[in-house]
Amino acid sequence: MKGVVFVEILEMVEEVFGMAKADEIIQGANLPHGGAYTAVGTYPHEEAVNILVSANKVTGVEIPVMLNQFGHHLFGVFAKGYPAFFEGMAHPFDLLEKVDDYIHIEVLKLYPDAQLPRFDHEREDNVLRLTYISPRQMSSLAEGLIEASAKHFNVPLDIQMRTLDSDGSRVLFILTSPK
Ligand code: HEM
Repeated sequence: MKGVVFVEILEMVEEVFGMAKADEIIQGANLPHGGAYTAVGTYPHEEAVNILVSANKVTGVEIPVMLNQFGHHLFGVFAKGYPAFFEGMAHPFDLLEKVDDYIHIEVLKLYPDAQLPRFDHEREDNVLRLTYISPRQMSSLAEGLIEASAKHFNVPLDIQMRTLDSDGSRVLFILTSPK
């Protein structure tokens, strides 16, 4: 997983739970280099899971809740860091359709070792069906990013989530925007 994800998870943990709790969480996660990450580095996905498990032990907040919140945080980072991806867009569906067709393809050119999810998509009128597919099972992160994109474009989306594979590696999002 790219270092930018780790840098931002730790930033959010510190922002939400405070410095003392953040230290306790990092200690508890047993990270090989003491929680020092660079944005361009690549680190095992398991370390991100360890941080979330430790944060859950220290704070009692459920992991999907943290991942969702992280999605909101990460959206702000992306919107600020990659404004070109948002140009000419007026609706969250414009952005969400492009994640698979364009944005993540460009991300792979920048970081060839990035591990990205797949998003199958089907749009009909005011409904977008997005299927999240990833062995990393982070659909709650996708949910947070989707909610944040609705907020960003100021469009109130109805978001229904259906688990297609019981391990969470395939999740269907049915998104409905007002007509
Ligand atoms: C400008 C917009 C975006 C950029 C620059 C971007 C970039 C990235 C990067 C760098 C990663 C980490 C890859 C790795 O760790 O190896 C990532 C992961 C991810 N992205 Fe995006 N992304 C963007 C928008 C979105 C949006 C809108 C969604 C939601 C639908 C999304 C869903 C995800 C998910 C769920 C992951 C976690 C990896 C997984 O589940 O397998 N991204 N993205």
